[in-house]
Amino acid sequence: MPTPDVPSHAEHRRDPADLASLVAAARTARANAYAPYSHYAVGAAVLTDDGRTFAGSNVENASYGATVCAERVAIWTAVAAGARRIVALAVVTAGGGSPCGLCRQVLAEFADADTPVAMTAPEGEVTIRTLGALLPMAWTRADLRPAPGS
Ligand code: THU
Repeated sequence: MPTPDVPSHAEHRRDPADLASLVAAARTARANAYAPYSHYAVGAAVLTDDGRTFAGSNVENASYGATVCAERVAIWTAVAAGARRIVALAVVTAGGGSPCGLCRQVLAEFADADTPVAMTAPEGEVTIRTLGALLPMAWTRADLRPAPGS
């Protein structure tokens, strides 16, 4: 079988170099965080199944509820560019925190339970967990279509 030009989902997932460059993209995006209220800058980046990387930062608002997390900015940017499957996500925060619950749910729309999520402080050690570990028993669109008769 010929070697494909674009690596498969599984290859993206397995390659630690992809995660390292994704973390670097998230770290760079963090510099563009608009966080005048919380002063908590976040950068995120996603890798799509066709090998593209999309980054985002948190964007706050004086009407606090209108604030959007870096992860959702990155995910929505990828989707708006035509991507539909995300094979890895990286997030960089001051303390190396993990994505919030809303972002986990949004990621679950476009990623699988075994999708790696890399979390780190700017100069810290990278922690990697699967989406399934961060959002067990996820409610997904599959639940919109219950088995006939149930
Ligand atoms: N924030 C993120 O960008 N990602 C997360 O996963 C957690 C929180 C942002 C939202 C807000 O701008 C600031 O961090 C404080 O909540």
